[in-house]
Amino acid sequence: MDLMHLSSPCGWINDPNGFIYFRGKYHLFYQHFPYAPQWGRMHWGHAVSDDLIRWQHVGNALFPSKFDDSDGCFSGTAVEDNDKLRLFYTGVRYTEPNPENTNCYLNEGFVSAQMEISSSDGFTFDNFGEKRTVVPAITNPEIGSAVNTRDPKVWRGKDAWFMMLGTSADNCGRLLFYKSSDLTDWDYVAFAELPNRGRMWECPDYFELDGKGVLIISPIGMEKGDNQAICMRADFDEQTCTMSISENYTYLDYGMDLYAPQTACDKDGARTLIAWARMPQPISGGRIGMFCIPREISLIDGHIFFAPHKNILAAFTKKIEFLSQANCKKAMLKASLTDGGSIDIGGFILGYNDDVLTADRSAVFPHRTHAQSRTPALGGKCNLLVFIDENLVEVFVNDGMYVLTNVVYGLADSINSNSDALSELYTLPDH
Ligand code: FRU
Repeated sequence: MDLMHLSSPCGWINDPNGFIYFRGKYHLFYQHFPYAPQWGRMHWGHAVSDDLIRWQHVGNALFPSKFDDSDGCFSGTAVEDNDKLRLFYTGVRYTEPNPENTNCYLNEGFVSAQMEISSSDGFTFDNFGEKRTVVPAITNPEIGSAVNTRDPKVWRGKDAWFMMLGTSADNCGRLLFYKSSDLTDWDYVAFAELPNRGRMWECPDYFELDGKGVLIISPIGMEKGDNQAICMRADFDEQTCTMSISENYTYLDYGMDLYAPQTACDKDGARTLIAWARMPQPISGGRIGMFCIPREISLIDGHIFFAPHKNILAAFTKKIEFLSQANCKKAMLKASLTDGGSIDIGGFILGYNDDVLTADRSAVFPHRTHAQSRTPALGGKCNLLVFIDENLVEVFVNDGMYVLTNVVYGLADSINSNSDALSELYTLPDH
């Protein structure tokens, strides 16, 4: 059982997949290579939760079994239809042999098709009998790439089902839109793109908040060094499948590690996001990969906020009176910084200077690069809610206006500050 953060049960995990509240439980699948702590021929691992805090791993749901997914079941989403769980994902087939590692492709030698599998209970997946290819590999490069077209996001519109895929055309990221009346037959309708947002778009997600559309993409090859997920306003016209995408974007997270997020509605309808925290080396048990805490998304005056999910906030009820007793695992710290203020969380240092919050993990991270991250200007106030776990520190600034999430290794059990900034520290009651 994982508490607070879902992490790899063994081997490797990356993107969250098929996140859904189905028949009274949260189901969260994930990209998984069970045999070694490195990326390889992808399976979908599967975990369930009653509260978005405790996650129980229940084995592998999907594994390669058909011609079109013979070398991997890449990312995708879940929907509920007629009381059935339907998973849409990208099936991958390698086209060039890799004698040194048959689990990995060589030279982008693979093709991608969009596939579907359904389950009537959400736990049993017939990988041999129930899989179908719903969108074959693309053959027209003017529409998209035969290799890099993937990560179906499927949702119910007013009168039809829609599927959005990430792809690449002319070295530019792009979205493809398909429409279906029955989730079985899909017609390609239109594409949308923006220049200067990377050469390929992965893991697209689209949803509405109070009637206004939000698009999240994970572009490859944007300016910020490693790939980072971005979000922006977008409007989707269901009649024509056209999406107008705002030029203005913000980062999903201003730390260095979050990628490939996915959203679902929680049981009360709140739009909730979970993302993969990229890790440079294994955690305890020789496993690699974990997810951030669930975040509730809201749109306030045109800005997209990511706040900790209400279940997480409600769970941290045990107050720690003396900071000297701080245990930097499973803790929630509330603090406000004034100019020049800083907090040292077991070697992970937060500092507020010139209206910008900086996080410095050089003492608790194995690489010199990617040690520092910072928010945009904060408008004169710096109220923090920090979630601390053994390998992840998540800093929510000003009620989720910006978030800084960073992977860490070897945090010490002490919290210190150069000011009276520390206000309250909490942990989970049963921890
Ligand atoms: C994003 C991604 C997806 C793909 C999956 C493969 O991290 O590259 O685009 O489906 O990971 O594991």
